[in-house]
Amino acid sequence: MKKYHQASWNEPLLIEMSKSGRQAFSLPELKPEVLSAINEDRPENLIPEKMRRKTDLLLPEVSEPEIVRHYVRLSQMNFGIDLGMYPLGSCTMKYNPKVSERIAKNPKFSGLHPYQDEQTVQGILEILYELQSLLCEITGMSAFSLSPAAGAQGEFVGALIIRNFLNDCGYSSKKDEMLVPDSAHGTNPASAAMTGFKVVKIPSSEGGIVTAEAVKKVISERTAGMMLTVPNTLGIFEREIGEVSSIVHDAGGLMYYDGANMNALLGRVKPGEMGFDIVHLNVHKTFATPHGGGGPGAGPVGVVDKLSEYLPVPVIVRKGGEGYGFDYNRPRSIGRIKSFYGNVGVLLRAYCYILSLGKDGLKTVSEQAVLASNYLLSKLDRRYYSLRYSTDQPRKHEFVVSASPLKRKTGVSAGDISKAILDSGNHSPTVYFPLIVDEALMIEPTETEPVEFLDQYATILNELAERANQSPESILKAPERTSISRIDEYRASHPGSLVLNWRYLLDGAKKKKDDDNKGKRNGSSNSRKDS
Ligand SMILES: Cc1ncc(COP(=O)(O)O)c(C=O)c1O
Repeated sequence: MKKYHQASWNEPLLIEMSKSGRQAFSLPELKPEVLSAINEDRPENLIPEKMRRKTDLLLPEVSEPEIVRHYVRLSQMNFGIDLGMYPLGSCTMKYNPKVSERIAKNPKFSGLHPYQDEQTVQGILEILYELQSLLCEITGMSAFSLSPAAGAQGEFVGALIIRNFLNDCGYSSKKDEMLVPDSAHGTNPASAAMTGFKVVKIPSSEGGIVTAEAVKKVISERTAGMMLTVPNTLGIFEREIGEVSSIVHDAGGLMYYDGANMNALLGRVKPGEMGFDIVHLNVHKTFATPHGGGGPGAGPVGVVDKLSEYLPVPVIVRKGGEGYGFDYNRPRSIGRIKSFYGNVGVLLRAYCYILSLGKDGLKTVSEQAVLASNYLLSKLDRRYYSLRYSTDQPRKHEFVVSASPLKRKTGVSAGDISKAILDSGNHSPTVYFPLIVDEALMIEPTETEPVEFLDQYATILNELAERANQSPESILKAPERTSISRIDEYRASHPGSLVLNWRYLLDGAKKKKDDDNKGKRNGSSNSRKDS
């Protein structure tokens, strides 16, 4: 295996590198014909006096090479799917094909402005309209909204649609319970609660699924709906989904499909065929779009016919002979949930991915994703990594093993393994989720990893377990080849430590700048030389 060592730069912030008067780029003087067109010698006069800046804008003043080096150095301290495997189950980063990147960056798309007149953006509107239709075809829904910015926002939209629809049906507050299995992603109960529903937890069966029997125990006239991920977060297909959907529908509730795991089912089965009424898709998980560090992402939401009026506005429609346009006139809509029309660049990448693979290609994606996951699982040493629930059954696109045998034997936990794996130049699996598996390691290799990488990843995990057996302390010290080693996890995620300090930095930079200006006015030489 190639040796990995991440760069470690002691990199300051750009504002800390700032030197008065230094520039990377200077705008040209306005041409005389522009000045005469606006009828002003000084364009700033077009801005009302009281709205003009009185002080300089506090931006870092740095040269172009400094900026380039700054960002290249930061990128060297980062990790991404273009560098190594990233099998972060559930929140997986799929490889983003370069052809989609190239198309999305084409200035014909990236140069568009959301305030442009509809008639001048017919091309992108046609693409988005087609994408809505493709997603309907893939999921078996009747209408789609591309607005939501992420899966979690899609869930919130779906829960709002359920609430408004039930209110219009006259149920008002009588239907106030949302069923959510204990294997669900945390965003499911959160979205339901934010919409005002009481969350009713359904325990997973011995086989790791939601059974019709478990649903019958909690279903009542108060049931508004159920949020379900298929395959679930254990990577297991919900075999009783047909019966479960019927029970919820018979009680007057709606079925919500968390489509984060649609990668496993592409071209095989549609959520609509399983009885779902509302679907969200995580395009970063299913259609290979970027979604790092919380965004920008996209979580389109699809619905069956009877719910289409409730979708967020605007909906992109075909306006007969006039081409495509935005429809805001939807009295039953839950309203606007995102500025403009969603993250168009991300949606464009999803469109490219779907078209470049075609129907058969998408089918191959799910086939390969499931094969890769089961292959990797079969290579793991079960003495250290045990499987829970339906142990004799294959998984779908991801699987969850428990490192508790390893922990019992050596004291090394799933979290320790996840740190140590970073030293190999790969990303760790998701740890401690789903909550129903202790010492969980959740692995989703995706369809794009060649078999050698799957072998390598399994070997690394098995070797780490062996090492933990022989010298657990060596694992507890890891990672040692990354830019930073272990951090104080409690403080790193504690609200008290997350206070942004840019204001503090800006205040410092402003003081420096004021001092500089004072120095200049006094005719003294600047102590910071711009050499
Ligand atoms: C099962 C499941 N549901 C919902 C989400 C939330 O999606 P997002 O991160 O796009 O908000 C995720 C995250 O990937 C997920 O794995």
